[in-house]
Amino acid sequence: MLKAIKMSTAAEPLADRVALVTGASRGIGQAIALRLARAGATLVLAARTASALAQVEEAIRRAGTEALTIPTDLTNDQQVEQLIRTTLARFGRIDMLVNNAGGGPPRTPIVKARLADWEWTLRLNLWAPMVLTKLVLPSMIARRCGTIVNLCSLAGLTGKAGEAAYAAAKFALRGFSQSLFEEVREHGIKVAVICPGYVDTPLIPPNRRVDRNKMLHPDDVAEAVYHIAIASPRCCPLEVVLHPQHDPFT
Ligand SMILES: NC(=O)c1ccc[n+]([C@@H]2O[C@H](COP(=O)([O-])OP(=O)(O)OC[C@H]3O[C@@H](n4cnc5c(N)ncnc54)[C@H](OP(=O)(O)O)[C@@H]3O)[C@@H](O)[C@H]2O)c1
Repeated sequence: MLKAIKMSTAAEPLADRVALVTGASRGIGQAIALRLARAGATLVLAARTASALAQVEEAIRRAGTEALTIPTDLTNDQQVEQLIRTTLARFGRIDMLVNNAGGGPPRTPIVKARLADWEWTLRLNLWAPMVLTKLVLPSMIARRCGTIVNLCSLAGLTGKAGEAAYAAAKFALRGFSQSLFEEVREHGIKVAVICPGYVDTPLIPPNRRVDRNKMLHPDDVAEAVYHIAIASPRCCPLEVVLHPQHDPFT
């Protein structure tokens, strides 16, 4: 087990923290991992694609911070449990859990949707964050500190045609997060949900009607996660809604 985690400093306020980021191989998760590493955190990187994770790990190491890659399919409960076991065996604790991995199938009306796609969407966006939260909580409660950030979406605030399962998962993730906060606030554990509008990542397929320059950038979301991580122990930014300043569809 690695014990030599650094002390936090003004330049590296998260140097004493171990942060697990899911979906860290690209897009928003990669930006979050790099931002937390720049603030000194030790990173655990999870996603399915080992080669992409290895590149993120390498970038973090080059910047002088410790990182561990654990290839994981989050729709598989055994792999989710193994992710936590491996992390705890290596670092002894998880101070920050960022449930970022998510996504959905292409837009499909409910009558044409495949049940397997619904199950996959709910597993990835809702079930995996719930299981990961359950697994990290005991050690956070014992230490009376910790931060859990769940990546939601504007689709978790307003439903849209063709995205029923994705919206259902994100609405439910907000409900889970609000209940979680009420359970753990007395233990000093922060819980935050981030609901971004369109972010320029591979999740959003090319579309002639959308101006990608008007979308949010992954770094905008990463910056929000960083500010949640360094927020005063007195306050919990439970729900953060990020709209692109300009409408990408105009
Ligand atoms: N982009 C947007 O406009 C937008 C807006 C609102 C909210 N969000 C939310 O923000 C989060 C990140 O989205 P993004 O835009 O960065 O998506 P992205 O570019 O498609 O990245 C998704 C990440 O999740 C990982 N992932 C997918 N399925 C997985 C699985 N079964 N097991 C483990 N990891 C898996 C992917 O890695 P592998 O493929 O290697 O597994 C990848 O690292 C999601 O929760 C999404 O719902 C995105």
